[in-house]
Amino acid sequence: MDTIIMKTDEAGAIEKASEILNAGGLVAFPTETVYGLGGNALDASAASRIYAAKGRPSDNPLIVHIADTKDVYKLAEEVPEMAETLMEAFWPGPLTIIFKKKALVPDTTTGGLPTVAIRMPSHPGAYELIRESGVYIAAPSANLSGKPSPTTAQHVIEDMSGRIDMILDGGAVGLGLESTIVDVTGDHPVILRPGFITRKMLEELIGPVEIDPALIKPDKNLRPKAPGMKYTHYAPSGDLSIVESASGTADDAVVNKINVLAREALEAGKSVAILTTKEHRDSYGVSLSNDNRTDGQEGCLKSAQVILLGSRSEGATVASRLYAALRECDEKGIEVIYCESFRDNELSGAIMNRLLRAAGHKVITV
Ligand code: TXA
Ligand code: MG
Repeated sequence: MDTIIMKTDEAGAIEKASEILNAGGLVAFPTETVYGLGGNALDASAASRIYAAKGRPSDNPLIVHIADTKDVYKLAEEVPEMAETLMEAFWPGPLTIIFKKKALVPDTTTGGLPTVAIRMPSHPGAYELIRESGVYIAAPSANLSGKPSPTTAQHVIEDMSGRIDMILDGGAVGLGLESTIVDVTGDHPVILRPGFITRKMLEELIGPVEIDPALIKPDKNLRPKAPGMKYTHYAPSGDLSIVESASGTADDAVVNKINVLAREALEAGKSVAILTTKEHRDSYGVSLSNDNRTDGQEGCLKSAQVILLGSRSEGATVASRLYAALRECDEKGIEVIYCESFRDNELSGAIMNRLLRAAGHKVITV
């Protein structure tokens, strides 16, 4: 299949994308969080095509994107008052709410669940596409299943070219991590996936909010309530470990440990990357001359690549760079990755959730 690629603001782009959606086809589009892979949420066969294009298990439900709060009442069987409070406060924006679904939403879209995830994105390109097409757009992140979510059109092109009808290129997204998901179908609201809308922000409006216990600690006996959270996600091909000290920040002990580990890996002939922020970019000077190599190879990577995640004091810059950095490790064929821990900023809930899963919960404590 030839994939049409157009800039979101190019003449005719939104019209073309709308036509494709209305014909049951698939269009990747930018949102403020990550790129989505969209199809008609009310068309079971479009939803099936989304699963096939992503290589995603079909028991992992899709988020339905809308452009008008009123549409919630058409898709959801019940809209609790606390959901209305949240919609009013955070939509359009990076918050997905789980409702009991109406029969009109196909089981294929919801992975067989009796509930539906709904979100109103704030990105103007996404908004225009939903408005122009008149379609409720079911969209997971536009990556191949298991890969980091795409934060640029180039990431989408790498994963989806030839697999879907069209890619709308809106440049790099603003936030870079997927929306917060909150379930309001039970007695108490529960966060199923942390994001930019934090627990504190929700609790200020609706009182106590629980966090799905399966998110806090990996436990084979706990099933995450968002089916997608049980899959290995976001994982780079290299072996990623998080290095942290009790403070959760990158203190001298963390920096020293990463330098020691990176040198050992280089000596073992591995290609190595260190994920850090601008505060510590000069603290990592790990390189190996050919004389020190024990594997006899020449001309290979001899220094650890230092990849910057923005600034530690501004969590949003780390969030926005994280997935691109993991993809960069893959592009460079990095075999071993050490990343500083980020438990010390306002977005640590969202950042550490993604990072821990990318690392398969491998944490080295110093
Ligand atoms: O920011 C985002 O939410 C992005 C953009 C494109 O909107 N979308 C996104 O979709 O991250 P996806 O499919 O990659 O993640 C959706 C998550 C999955 O973990 C899925 O299991 C969960 O939402 N989910 C969807 N519907 C659900 C439901 N009815 N009940 C529980 N979890 C649900
Ligand atoms: Mg995803």
